[in-house]
Amino acid sequence: MLDLLITNATLPDGRTGISVAVQDGRITEVTPGLQAPAHDTVDAAGCLLSPPFCDPHFHMDATLSHGLPRVNESGTLLEGIAVWGELKPLLRAEDMVERALAYCDWAVAKGLLAIRSHVDTSDPSLLPVQAMLEVKRRVAGYLDLQLVAFPQDGVLRTRTGVDSLTRALDLGVDVVGGIPHFERTMAEGAASVKLLCEIAAERGKLVDMHCDETDDPLSRHIETLAFEAQRLGLQGRVNGSHCTSMHSMDNYYVSKLLPLIAESGVSVVANPLINITLQGRHDTYPKRRGMTRVPELMAAGVTVAFGHDCVMDPWYGMGSGDMLEVAHMGLHVAQMTSQQGIRACFDAVTVEAAKVMHLQGYGIAPGRDASFVLLQARDAVEAIRLRANRTRVWRKGRLVAQTPEMAAGLRVEGRPARVTFMRGA
Ligand code: FE2
Repeated sequence: MLDLLITNATLPDGRTGISVAVQDGRITEVTPGLQAPAHDTVDAAGCLLSPPFCDPHFHMDATLSHGLPRVNESGTLLEGIAVWGELKPLLRAEDMVERALAYCDWAVAKGLLAIRSHVDTSDPSLLPVQAMLEVKRRVAGYLDLQLVAFPQDGVLRTRTGVDSLTRALDLGVDVVGGIPHFERTMAEGAASVKLLCEIAAERGKLVDMHCDETDDPLSRHIETLAFEAQRLGLQGRVNGSHCTSMHSMDNYYVSKLLPLIAESGVSVVANPLINITLQGRHDTYPKRRGMTRVPELMAAGVTVAFGHDCVMDPWYGMGSGDMLEVAHMGLHVAQMTSQQGIRACFDAVTVEAAKVMHLQGYGIAPGRDASFVLLQARDAVEAIRLRANRTRVWRKGRLVAQTPEMAAGLRVEGRPARVTFMRGA
């Protein structure tokens, strides 16, 4: 007898009437119309069954700290870094752990089961690192938390930057981070990319750098990152986060840059909510959107995913751990409004994000982990449009979250229905 059988599901690739059979935490069969005895059978009623949402770029150490010790009044990246700098001496590990655990609860309820979080390694005490390693341990039963050693104040700009970062890696942090555009000069930024990639290559680690999070078209650290990924044989193991300067770069230069990124196997994570909020702040009008060139990167064959980046912290006072909100903003900012474009934005918070994070056992296919989300929507496009209710969330065959279905005219006789507009009645 199966542990779990889900029937009549729609998958993100458009297949309908699909049954998913689960045994011992793994998917054993994905096929149309399968009926078999199971301890738990769930009729999906034609709704979308998706692999879990993944957030490939987040800051768990800062989350839910909005207003501490004060609000970022200008809304700029630099004031955000300054507010975080004011908060750091006041941080207590237990408060960071509590806030992070609360956020992880929100995440699971929204079907977000894998998060890559940058952790600030600037302070030699490594307090945020210790706290986030504790969180990683405590959430391991229901959420994959991957940690990035992130030298927020610049790995070369601070005297102890390199030492603190390598000690964080020694403690078990998974990925090497960086922030080249925040180093003192362009040359030091490039030197930091080289150094950090060498550290990653030496230790067999992945790389994920905040890269060119600026509107300055001459911030070109992504070029160095791609070059170093190739030089050190790190193809497929390096990610550039943000890359917002690419929005403002010269078009000829970008025509040379895109193939370089593609051939180096560097992936790119855009953070639509944060990019549209933080970029263009020094502009009058026209104000630049600032997000990197998402459809162009995708067309060049680069793996592109979307991250949430911030929720209720010094940089962003909104958010709820909902990756559909991220995808929704992404498709607007990138103007990816074709059906194919919208589906690509759904992939950017699911399957493409999982690729960036090198997740194992991900996806709805036989042999993979039985981790998936049932949404109150007929397909991926409707899921984004409605930021659809996540009625059930399973991780490795275990139900980890359940939300009552919304009425609100969205369902008729147990099936999602179009909202009917009664014109002139
Ligand atoms: Fe970030």
